[in-house]
Amino acid sequence: MRPLFTLNNRLSLCAQMVRKGVRIADIGTDHAYLPVWLVRAGFVPFALACDIKAEPLKAGELTIKKYHAEDMVQTRLCDGLDDVRADEVDDIIIAGMGGETIVHILSSTSWLKDTEKRLILQPMSKHELVIDYLYQNGFELKEHHCTVSEGKIYTAFSAQFTGNKKDFDELFTYTGLLNKDNEDHLRFLHSIINHLEKKSKANPHFGEIAKEIRERFSL
Ligand SMILES: C[S@@+](CC[C@H](N)C(=O)[O-])C[C@H]1O[C@@H](n2cnc3c(N)ncnc32)[C@H](O)[C@@H]1O
Repeated sequence: MRPLFTLNNRLSLCAQMVRKGVRIADIGTDHAYLPVWLVRAGFVPFALACDIKAEPLKAGELTIKKYHAEDMVQTRLCDGLDDVRADEVDDIIIAGMGGETIVHILSSTSWLKDTEKRLILQPMSKHELVIDYLYQNGFELKEHHCTVSEGKIYTAFSAQFTGNKKDFDELFTYTGLLNKDNEDHLRFLHSIINHLEKKSKANPHFGEIAKEIRERFSL
């Protein structure tokens, strides 16, 4: 059997948050690296690899064949989770998309509001929109991590529905569970501040948030 490939740090971070032994759906799977890696590494027994476009899904099918994962990974051509049933999967990964698209997918799928399901989310931009959506809708962050992958800093988090609507503020949507004692978290906090300070030229409100983050984390 062909030796298994290595995931980059960004996808590896997502893989680490998947619960061992559960069934997963990878939404926006593209080359299906994450589902193929998870089943072939023995972490999960079954995966759905979903994408809204046929071309990426074809690339995914090639990866599935190449690594002999046909028995364990199925593909679905659909928008978000539109063609995925609640009883098929436990952990849902949405990685490598903008925050707005992730919110669109989450808000279109009512069965995610289930305390047994786990979300693993890796927004490429506007992560604050995702955290805001989660807390407005009774979800809570469980883990929050950052990593440097191919020279760039990324964030990813897992979340679960509790049904409790916890109080949260705008600053929390930017910083979630980040902790400045961790080198990668600190690097991500600085990238948020830089981003907000740039946006503050057009809207001073973002400068206020950047200042609050500096104060909260003594940066
Ligand atoms: C940049 S790739 C990310 C691939 C992989 N998840 C990763 O993190 O490396 C984004 C993929 O998401 C797919 N996509 C975008 N919007 C989607 C949606 N609403 N539902 C499902 N897939 C979507 C795109 O077709 C594309 O293949």
